[in-house]
Amino acid sequence: MSAQLPWRVAWVTGASSGIGLGVARQLAGAGVKVAVSSRRPPEGLQHPNITFFPLDVTNEAAVAACVAEIEAALGPIDLAVLAAGRYEPFTAEALSAGWFTAINAANYLGVTHCISALAPRMISRGQGHLSWFASVAGYRGLPKAAYYGPTKAALINLAECLKLDLEPHGLGISVINPGFVETPMTAVNDFSMPFLMKPEAAAAATINGLAKGKFEVAYPAPFVLLLKLLRLLPYPLYFALARRTRQA
Ligand SMILES: NC(=O)c1ccc[n+]([C@@H]2O[C@H](COP(=O)([O-])OP(=O)(O)OC[C@H]3O[C@@H](n4cnc5c(N)ncnc54)[C@H](OP(=O)(O)O)[C@@H]3O)[C@@H](O)[C@H]2O)c1
Repeated sequence: MSAQLPWRVAWVTGASSGIGLGVARQLAGAGVKVAVSSRRPPEGLQHPNITFFPLDVTNEAAVAACVAEIEAALGPIDLAVLAAGRYEPFTAEALSAGWFTAINAANYLGVTHCISALAPRMISRGQGHLSWFASVAGYRGLPKAAYYGPTKAALINLAECLKLDLEPHGLGISVINPGFVETPMTAVNDFSMPFLMKPEAAAAATINGLAKGKFEVAYPAPFVLLLKLLRLLPYPLYFALARRTRQA
């Protein structure tokens, strides 16, 4: 990452593995001071620009304390990249209320805890950029995605709402919608993943889209286009096609 980036201090959650780890590494390499948060420390990520602030994003009070601690240590956060998230494949035979709650707590409520702690600080400064990972899985209902997909659909809707409400206060909002990326999260998948990307490429695409100030940062382009076209289909046609992927 060689281009000059417009941020001095960034906060990346979910930085102990996968895309979040790549984003933190690339931002730090480009000269941004990066606060990284997850429950486990980011393995093998040692860089003078990186400071680890352990955090469970499901704990609202801990998130508020963490944001205060980061800003006291590093200064005002200009950019938040909220990548913490969990996935569990849904099976009808083992349907579990517990998984609905756990995935919602990490994916949706985790992001709302971070926004609630940070947005008021950014509003008072009249600047800042908030971004979070949803997914192309949030575009339409998909097989095996009942725990995960609805949280991502909610995060896309949340971004649309907050863009309208926070933009007048000088804040930027972005939602990041990746296709399949090769990380510990997708390692559990027992099906072939089309257009699978490496986490480093996903991280670079994320930072590039955020630096351009895009509202939606979505990749890879061919898969995104395909899924956006599927979104236009009427239900009978969509379900007929989606059933086929379930059998594949
Ligand atoms: N991989 C894909 O194909 C794909 C596609 C679309 C969207 N996404 C989204 O991209 C984001 C990153 O995913 P990834 O593939 O890089 O997954 P990953 O490698 O499994 O990383 C997930 C990160 O979230 C953290 N995390 C989970 N629960 C947490 C909690 N309660 N508090 C704090 N941190 C927590 C994990 O750290 P700890 O366990 O150490 O806390 C880890 O650092 C996620 O939001 C995911 O939904 C991924």
